[in-house]
Amino acid sequence: MIKNLKITEFGDFQTPLKLAEKAARLIFEKYPYIKSILEPTCGIGNFIRASLKASNNLKSVYGWEINPEYIKTAKNIIYNDKKINMNLEQKDFFSVDWSLLPQDLTNSSLFIGNPPWVTNSELGRISSKNLPQKSNFQNHAGFEAITGKSNFDISEWMLIKIAEYISGKKAAMSFLVKTSVARKLFLHICKNKLLIKNIDIYKINTKKHFNVNVDACLLCSEGCTAPSKEYRASIYDSLSHQYPIKIMGYTKGNLVADIDTYNMLKNIDSQSEIPWRSGIKHDCSKVMEFNLKGDKLINGFQEQVDISKDYLYPMYKSSHIANDKFQDPVKYMLVTQKKIGMETDSIKILSPKTWTYLQSHKDKLDSRKSSIYKSAPKFSVFGVGDYSFNLWKIVISGLYKNIKFKLVGPFQEKPVVLDDTCYMMSFKSEEKAEFVYELLSSKVAGDFLDSIVFKDSKRPITVSILNRINLKQLALHLGLIEKYNFFFENGKQKQLNLF
Ligand SMILES: C[S@@+](CC[C@H](N)C(=O)[O-])C[C@H]1O[C@@H](n2cnc3c(N)ncnc32)[C@H](O)[C@@H]1O
Repeated sequence: MIKNLKITEFGDFQTPLKLAEKAARLIFEKYPYIKSILEPTCGIGNFIRASLKASNNLKSVYGWEINPEYIKTAKNIIYNDKKINMNLEQKDFFSVDWSLLPQDLTNSSLFIGNPPWVTNSELGRISSKNLPQKSNFQNHAGFEAITGKSNFDISEWMLIKIAEYISGKKAAMSFLVKTSVARKLFLHICKNKLLIKNIDIYKINTKKHFNVNVDACLLCSEGCTAPSKEYRASIYDSLSHQYPIKIMGYTKGNLVADIDTYNMLKNIDSQSEIPWRSGIKHDCSKVMEFNLKGDKLINGFQEQVDISKDYLYPMYKSSHIANDKFQDPVKYMLVTQKKIGMETDSIKILSPKTWTYLQSHKDKLDSRKSSIYKSAPKFSVFGVGDYSFNLWKIVISGLYKNIKFKLVGPFQEKPVVLDDTCYMMSFKSEEKAEFVYELLSSKVAGDFLDSIVFKDSKRPITVSILNRINLKQLALHLGLIEKYNFFFENGKQKQLNLF
């Protein structure tokens, strides 16, 4: 029996035979020319069994697996009545020299399976060496050279290797992977202009098949000889769906979730006239944030706090903004500066009680881990500037999947501030804020965002995504250009009268 640690180390989720069979039927219908297969991390061999059942054309089968117990089991249970050239070996994927692959894998071959579900950070935690060989775990040199990233799924490395191998060949690949890995592979294919076509992604219900909640899919693609003019990946709702629900694409170095909608709205994909920014960062919510109970301020240590309101601002967190029942602020934030790097000593004089409170929590504030606080004035915050104190804001949560903008005005005559899990653009003028809110909450803006955002990613909304929404183009789509000109291009009163 393999221990849990081993299961983690080897990203070990054996594919149930039924699922492997369903996938194999679809795969061999797509690629009827396949004569040889390689399952490079074959486990107990369910994908090999399923392939043998789905195809009558196979001449040779290769299976590699790092775990000797699994390869023994695979050898015992794979029934080879078709007299196929069968090669099942204990082998480490990362030790393979791909230039020495058997001749029969160079043409009409299929690379199939379900690679390990584990990231290098998880392996780091358990001091595992199950990584690409040249990739020293401390600096990930080998992998970073390919992807420029320091945290990666080891399956991503494996699939990149295989995609590069089939590029330009009469060969195909079909792997069950996390959806995020499939997307990264697609990006790699596009960026490196690999000779790969017909990229199809079928969503898999992992709860049903593996009893885990992970967004996963079957990714299929084929090598080809002509370079692609436009890379597209068709997304299917399940293995049984014949028609894609949307087509993922690649443009200007980025992936887009729905290339057809994107192409209709792509002129919106330019610079936002007003910058989107994150909320205020203080990394010490227990000291810097307060709930109001009756008329008492209570901090995160449940201490009743006696400070004046000078440096206190009503605030929202992501959960407040994403809530369908959007309510008045119930929390306050202590904001010690008006600008990044501003001196804080004057708080002592301007608001002695605030200073005494901050001093009483000096240890916690001084031990904030981020290096940004090291050379900053005492009790500093970040993500703060004039924009934080404008009375009108359009805000959105960076943590939740419901992509909804909210319009926020002053509360008790003070600007409402946000924590750093939220994004905002801010305004001095209520009318301008209302107009931009009208633009951003339109269906066109929603469709545009849906076309560029992957809702299943950890943080679907980011500042860089928001900064891609050009308000003028949005106004043009909505027939609101006169109003736009009034607010953004010093339009005349005459134009205002039009609406
Ligand atoms: C997610 S499981 C899937 C097993 C099999 N492909 C299937 O579909 O049932 C991943 C498999 O990869 C194996 N594995 C992990 N690291 C490996 C490596 N470096 N080389 C070869 N196999 C490896 C694990 O032992 C495990 O059996």
